[in-house]
Amino acid sequence: MKLQDKHILLGITGSIAAYKAAILVRLLVKEGAQVKVVMTKLAKEFITPLTMATLSKSPILVDFFDPENGQWNSHVDLGMWADLYLVAPATANTMGKMANGIADNLLLTSYLSAKCPVMIAPAMDLDMFQHPANLRNIEVLKSYGNIIIEPVEGELASGLSGKGRMEEPEVIVEKVVEFFSQKKKLLNKTILVTAGPTYEPIDPVRFIGNFSTGKMGFAIAEKLAEQGANVFLITGPTQLSTQNKSITRVDVQTADEMYENAVKYFSSCDAAIMSAAVADFKPVTKEDHKIKRGKENFQIELVPNKDIAAELGKLKTSKQVLVGFALETNDEFLNAIKKINTKNLDFIVLNSLNDKGAGFGFDTNKITIIDSAEKQYQFNLKSKSNAAVDIVNMLTDVLQKKNN
Ligand code: CTP
Repeated sequence: MKLQDKHILLGITGSIAAYKAAILVRLLVKEGAQVKVVMTKLAKEFITPLTMATLSKSPILVDFFDPENGQWNSHVDLGMWADLYLVAPATANTMGKMANGIADNLLLTSYLSAKCPVMIAPAMDLDMFQHPANLRNIEVLKSYGNIIIEPVEGELASGLSGKGRMEEPEVIVEKVVEFFSQKKKLLNKTILVTAGPTYEPIDPVRFIGNFSTGKMGFAIAEKLAEQGANVFLITGPTQLSTQNKSITRVDVQTADEMYENAVKYFSSCDAAIMSAAVADFKPVTKEDHKIKRGKENFQIELVPNKDIAAELGKLKTSKQVLVGFALETNDEFLNAIKKINTKNLDFIVLNSLNDKGAGFGFDTNKITIIDSAEKQYQFNLKSKSNAAVDIVNMLTDVLQKKNN
């Protein structure tokens, strides 16, 4: 059994292809998967919940709560339970809502809260499929990292013939099996990631900081963990949360605390990715009491913080990989290359603030990776999650080369 104990959440939407979902569930269960089914109201018109509940051996979820007894169907729990969320068949309507964050049924709220990978098997008429709005939605879903199981050409329920038929259940199950059997590329590797800003206290209520949100570093930590790595995530203050059990999170506030922890963990790591926006300076002293107004020409004396990346660069062995970030406003390439040398990096991820959609706070990023031989790899503007995949792929290659 190729899907033994895998938790698969199957989302069924209102398409005539919903009848094939019965075969799909049977095949998934036959391979050992545990399946829970969430249906839209319209899907129930195409295939009965009784059929799906019998095949999946689990009650079908449609509403946010059971009207009989008021029991709440938690989309958050469903999202946490699933190893894979498979939406099959997916109508143009549901894909449009998924692409745009609309959450007006349990299938969609589960999609928004799911932490697991998502596979989508569209089913619709050929003209609907080809409409630019639908094609754009598919591109948006791909940019979120969702896997689209392309529909096939053939006879459609409308009597027309063309691309739009949902892929056959047997093929969908093959793709699910293939997905789970992909070899994780960073098994047994331990990787340090720094993320977020640092806060350098001035007095008990004030600090010097920056606008970093930590999104890029957290996305990298998630992608590393997905590839089987153990991750030490040393993060400055941020609103973000971490769910993955392979990520050990260490919360710090100042650059000094980040430095101490980075040095402590680095010797047991195979690589480190320095994505934190570390404050370069700190006040010489932290006042014990809140500084009062009324002073003229008030000055704060600053001293440089340790350059954490450069310190790890000095400690780095020939087998360890060190990756830095450079956020530049001008002379981007020259500055980035300088940083590769001064910090002894294996490669650097360059963000230019001149690129729209790149930098602090955005959910997107446009990166260029420059390696120690000054070779450049340019990537398009994409979600931070997908940019993290590019960075992790590059790290994997460099790690392999260094350790062969
Ligand atoms: N970095 C670090 N510790 C610091 C400063 C920076 O570890 N005290 C790391 C960052 O996490 C990043 C890289 O060094 O990976 C480059 O950071 P950046 O702020 O762009 O460069 P700086 O070295 O601070 O140089 P400058 O601010 O003069 O551009």
